[in-house]
Amino acid sequence: MAKKLPIEKGEKNKILRRKSVELATEKITSSEIKELIGDIIKTMKEEKGVGLAAPQIGENIRLFCVDTKEKPLIFINPRITKKSLGKEIADEGCLSLPGVWGPVKRSKSVEVSFYNEQGIKIKIKASGLLARVIQHEYDHLDGILFIDRLKK
Ligand code: NI
Repeated sequence: MAKKLPIEKGEKNKILRRKSVELATEKITSSEIKELIGDIIKTMKEEKGVGLAAPQIGENIRLFCVDTKEKPLIFINPRITKKSLGKEIADEGCLSLPGVWGPVKRSKSVEVSFYNEQGIKIKIKASGLLARVIQHEYDHLDGILFIDRLKK
């Protein structure tokens, strides 16, 4: 089911500022997580986003989706293991902050290890838009929003 975005102000809004918790590996393929992933993809597509993190639909779990390639990629318990020293500034927005856009400096490429929705551990090297969205969504898992990183 697609969720209504942004999540309302007040108590629920605190979810966006909380540090999310890792998912026990044996739960990755559970029906609840399957449902959560379905909700994330549906909500992201409906809102025409290129990424969405679990806390944005009210779940403080370290899980996000990125959709910059041919199909949505699910990242569970991600770890950014390497960030390029080379950085790049580009405008970002966020489905949780409608109407707000601004320049954010991010590493040009990152290496990230994570579990996919089948519970398989994967390591990828990402660059370009994919790397930027991974860094943006990863921040959501630590309660960080792109407005915290705006270049003045
Ligand atoms: Ni966002």
